[in-house]
Amino acid sequence: MRIIAPATSANCGPGFDSLGIALNAYLVVEVLEESADWFVEHDFGSNVPTNQFNLVVRTALAINGDLTPHHLKVTSDIPLARGLGSSSSAIVAGLLLANELGQMNLDDTMLLQLATKLEGHPDNVAPAVLGDFVAATYDGDWCDALQVPYPKLDFIAYIPNQELRTKESREALPDKLAFGKAVHGAAVGNVYVAAIAQQNIDLISRLMIQDEFHEQFRRKLVPDLDKIRHLLQQVPHVGTYLSGAGPTVMTVAEKDQTPQVMAALAAANLAGTVKKLTIDRLGA
Ligand code: HSE
Repeated sequence: MRIIAPATSANCGPGFDSLGIALNAYLVVEVLEESADWFVEHDFGSNVPTNQFNLVVRTALAINGDLTPHHLKVTSDIPLARGLGSSSSAIVAGLLLANELGQMNLDDTMLLQLATKLEGHPDNVAPAVLGDFVAATYDGDWCDALQVPYPKLDFIAYIPNQELRTKESREALPDKLAFGKAVHGAAVGNVYVAAIAQQNIDLISRLMIQDEFHEQFRRKLVPDLDKIRHLLQQVPHVGTYLSGAGPTVMTVAEKDQTPQVMAALAAANLAGTVKKLTIDRLGA
């Protein structure tokens, strides 16, 4: 048995903790033979547990403590702690593992509720479960999430070599936001989703860079965001935003703009890798 969960890019510009998109990098879990104890074979390094404390297994056991231990082989091309939803993919894969091994018959709605509760915010897990672009809201108890097909654009990730933990990046956010800013931020997010629904790329482009909720507070942790926006001023593209909690900086481009964007990023000698991703329409 094989379980596959995609990478995700959250926030997508003005949609803090609400908008996210599934992309074509994947966590793959191969379920091998039963064993006396859980054993997770992987090559993510010694910081990632190989036993029942591995996030995939921990998630599966959190919803079904009776599962028979197995030997799992986990591979992934989603870099850890880079703002591309690596922990969400592990949580979603863990839920699917429990669903399969425990024959739990959880549908997408139940998977979404469980995944959001475990992650605490829906903007990575919702697109990981449903695929494509998702607008979601979570009140601490229930997650409402709707898929909105995103225009056929490329997502060019600049992935810094350094990790940035979501916890650290969330600590940079303020407790309060001025009323006027919050109203503007919400309005921008609303119209951005409408622009996506209408495939209005010019408006997507204008609104993508008008976030009020997080980028301004995180730019000190991720100076590459401003650097890349500056660098791409003369290069045609749709927009650039901080992917999730960072540090990945995501540039969205039309297919014919992608080579120029990639060339400009490559020429800038930034300390990281540049990777072209496309939208995963199906999810886990
Ligand atoms: N919306 C979350 C954040 C995503 O920006 O902190 C974290 O993966």
